[in-house]
Amino acid sequence: MSVNFAANAPHGGRLVNRIASETERQEFLAQAEQLPRVQLDERATSDLVTIAIGALSPLCGFMEQKDYESVVDNMRLANGLPWSIPVTLSVTEEVADTLQEGNWVRLDDPTGRFIGVLELTQKYRYNKAHEAINVYRTEETKHPGVKAIYDQGPINLAGPIWLLERDSHPLFPTYQIDPAESRRMFKEKGWKTVVGFQTRNPIHRAHEYIQKCALEIVDGLFLHPLVGVTKSDDIPADVRMRCYEIMVEHYFPKDRVILAINPCSMRYAGPREAIFHALVRKNYGCTHFIVGRDHAGVGDYYGTYDAQYIFDEFEPAELGIVPMMFEHAFYCKVTEQMATKKTSPSTPEQRVHLSGTKVREMLRRGELPPPQFSRPEVAAELAKAMQAMAE
Ligand code: ADX
Repeated sequence: MSVNFAANAPHGGRLVNRIASETERQEFLAQAEQLPRVQLDERATSDLVTIAIGALSPLCGFMEQKDYESVVDNMRLANGLPWSIPVTLSVTEEVADTLQEGNWVRLDDPTGRFIGVLELTQKYRYNKAHEAINVYRTEETKHPGVKAIYDQGPINLAGPIWLLERDSHPLFPTYQIDPAESRRMFKEKGWKTVVGFQTRNPIHRAHEYIQKCALEIVDGLFLHPLVGVTKSDDIPADVRMRCYEIMVEHYFPKDRVILAINPCSMRYAGPREAIFHALVRKNYGCTHFIVGRDHAGVGDYYGTYDAQYIFDEFEPAELGIVPMMFEHAFYCKVTEQMATKKTSPSTPEQRVHLSGTKVREMLRRGELPPPQFSRPEVAAELAKAMQAMAE
């Protein structure tokens, strides 16, 4: 597959960097006590960080009303650039009342640490039901993304941000590779085409299969597990990362793969999040992005391939990253290999596939998923982690 390498320019053309210089940081710190304060939750904290490092380029801050409404209604920023997920900072009326447009606001993380500033250009009300329906295709608060909207305050604060400093990740410092760095690495390796892989689950053989099918076609694989906020019953990020370390160690050629963490939080917005995930990986320098079955889905809110169909709503050039679509992959007992319906003559009974819920149930009972589903070393790591969590 040939792709013009210029296709991997950052979204909007320029990689955003909103990490304060040392001088700016000292200036902000000197004002720490005078500035009005907003406490961020975990998701807003990861949004702040991802904006600052350029992962959400061209965003320089939390969305103003015209961008927000345009994204919710048309999946585009007000200037027409594709963008599918609102990136907003919502607060209660009481908090909003303490703040004045035109002023700087101090942003604290959930532990109360001063981590960033917002140049407040706008406060505005927004319609929660409308956002839920358009972005998540449901108003049900059982949906974790919709629940987050209904749990948050009714006023959005908007404006450019600065992150005071880029801390190294407490759990995964060596895998913290920001977009400017991943772009440098791809170049150094001479990779002209790189496929990004989003995941929030422990790696299983269907993941490995689609990653390797994609890697047969492009130069490099950017394994990019999401380590921001996930729902409470998802497997914790440290366990997932250990599984990835095992896989890279035993089952991948090291010169073709880079493992790095994606600091974004999950929205579970299915199709819309697939577009968002692709644009984020474009900012990291990927030219291609894997979209398999029910990408970023939860429960049965989305059709199995809705997250693939949504790419038809955009011109390929305006997205600037090529989706690589895969059908539902499974182990085929007839051909004794991983496959999809496109490549296997099997009947449903001749296929091995387990849902995430089923696997978690097995592990809780002390059973290991079969080698057709999970590499044995990964299954053992998951079993160990489940046991430790149960104790
Ligand atoms: S997600 O929420 O990050 O999408 P997950 O980690 O399970 O969840 O999926 C990562 C990627 O692998 C997504 O693109 C998803 O569509 C794809 N995927 C997961 N399981 C399969 C499968 N059995 N067959 C094909 N694609 C799959």
